[in-house]
Amino acid sequence: MKNDLRLTTHPVLDLSMDGRNRVTITIDGTSLEVLEGEILAAALWLNGFISLGHNPSDGSHRGMYCGIGHCYECRVTVDGVEDVRSCLIRARDGMRVSLQSFNT
Ligand code: FES
Repeated sequence: MKNDLRLTTHPVLDLSMDGRNRVTITIDGTSLEVLEGEILAAALWLNGFISLGHNPSDGSHRGMYCGIGHCYECRVTVDGVEDVRSCLIRARDGMRVSLQSFNT
């Protein structure tokens, strides 16, 4: 697992990864190993997918902004369903994710 950005210790939060299964998702055909049940946007971020799409009118990048489902900047296509807010769903085995272009 790449996950170089994942915190492994924290003075307050319990970041124990014990007992959590690792599952495989794909993003535009690339396989990623992530923790089962972690928020998809975080899983993508930890694997270097910070830009989740772009605005076709000006090419600006889109990606996680609010992290709580309000801004819609983290939309991806999941298992063929467009405009899924990746900050609101959890990673599960076999999930197929595609980046997408979208207007604001
Ligand atoms: S990051 Fe704002 S809706 Fe997902």
